[in-house]
Amino acid sequence: MSRSVSIYVCQSCGAQTRQFFGRCNNCGEWNSIIEEKINQKTDKSIYTKINSATEKSPYRSEPISHTKNQIINRIPSGYKEFDRVLGGGLVPGSLVLVGGEPGIGKSTLILQSATAMAHERSVLYIAAEESAEQVKLRWNRIENSQSNLHLLAETDLELVIKELNYLKPAVAVIDSIQALHDQNLSSSPGSVAQVRECSAALQQIAKRENISLLIIGHVTKDGMLAGPKVLEHLVDAVLTFEGDKFATHRLLRGVKNRFGATSELGVFDMQTNGLSEVSNPSDLFLSKTSAPGISTIVTCEGTRPLAIDIQALLNPTSYSSPRRTTTGIEINRLHQILAVLEKNMNLSLSRYDCYLAVAGGLEVEEPGADLGIAAAIVSSFKNIELEEGIVFIGEIGLAGQLRLVRQMRQRINEVTRLGYKKIIIPDGIHTNEFETNQNLEIIKVSNINQALIVALNNI
Ligand code: TYD
Ligand code: MG
Repeated sequence: MSRSVSIYVCQSCGAQTRQFFGRCNNCGEWNSIIEEKINQKTDKSIYTKINSATEKSPYRSEPISHTKNQIINRIPSGYKEFDRVLGGGLVPGSLVLVGGEPGIGKSTLILQSATAMAHERSVLYIAAEESAEQVKLRWNRIENSQSNLHLLAETDLELVIKELNYLKPAVAVIDSIQALHDQNLSSSPGSVAQVRECSAALQQIAKRENISLLIIGHVTKDGMLAGPKVLEHLVDAVLTFEGDKFATHRLLRGVKNRFGATSELGVFDMQTNGLSEVSNPSDLFLSKTSAPGISTIVTCEGTRPLAIDIQALLNPTSYSSPRRTTTGIEINRLHQILAVLEKNMNLSLSRYDCYLAVAGGLEVEEPGADLGIAAAIVSSFKNIELEEGIVFIGEIGLAGQLRLVRQMRQRINEVTRLGYKKIIIPDGIHTNEFETNQNLEIIKVSNINQALIVALNNI
């Protein structure tokens, strides 16, 4: 016998309660809670059944060393940058979720990759958001040759599953999961219940038929993937596609990856005929001009070093408290670096407005950028250009001491590759292997004062 009960589910974070609230207690979102009916079985739970069973359970587990090694033949996505983020290609039978803001280019990226994969294997593109004609229009923009890519414009989960069962493609694309819906549920497409049910059904068929599924998902206004967290737990990899609305470059990042490293970065450029790969992204983020307030750093995104420019502008303030704004860097890091500079170098920065930006719209979260930020600030404050061809790497401690950051070697290699002349790094690393390179001067310093004296040509 079953009895129907109501639960209340937040459409923003997926939290469940037994009572209706105007505001979600978990994520704080207003008017996001809706009622869902569930059938609660009044039978004994499986747990009580198993515990009361008298027969012995059959022996099923085995030592891990006896378990067979599985050889994974990854499917190349057609793009090296995409493969890098996936960890070498798509794993058969895996689910990959690609999230991003509307209009950023998710459908374009996946359509291009699906087209490339369709040269070698069967690929099905399920367009739930757009009509087949709209997808064809986009496809005409990016590719003009023949392709075996199968296209199905459908939003009904049942028909989608039937087609997957019939065609059994090696790869299938769902664009997007929020637009699919299961007729058996009363809630509207995109609601937590729909997303949960649709993704669970897709996962089952993907694992059973060994289909790699590329699922496109939307993000909410805070940049979180829309739909329940359960979706992120269910899939094998979560990638985000992001970029500046005003710039053409797009970044593909791995947030979760069961088959590869996370925080890997792939760089693309949106052009009139689709996305093209950027294999030397340092070119994108360097302004190649010299002026007071510009410094160059090397940051690491996953295993990938990127040389980028930091720009600072300091002006005497005309407000009672100075303005501090940042683009691409956390504001608290700026406050901290300003405080350290003020104390250690006796600069009266508290009477200056400070604006800080990363060139090219990139977000730099790691502390390795600290020294470069400090150099840009002091350079703008003193109105002196930094020496040409100089790169900064290092984290600044509160007492003004410099600390090494991870992956120093990769960063120094990138500096060498790009042909810079000088690099200032924290003390404490053996760099003999790099010192054979006559063109790069490596300067090791232990605190911020020393570093800036070198950088500003002893002024
Ligand atoms: P789209 O892939 O539809 O974005 P999403 O699926 O993430 O919503 O991309 C839409 C944007 O990309 C749109 O503003 C137009 C632009 N675009 C190009 O600049 N060049 C192209 O070749 C294509 C296909 C799209
Ligand atoms: Mg789209």
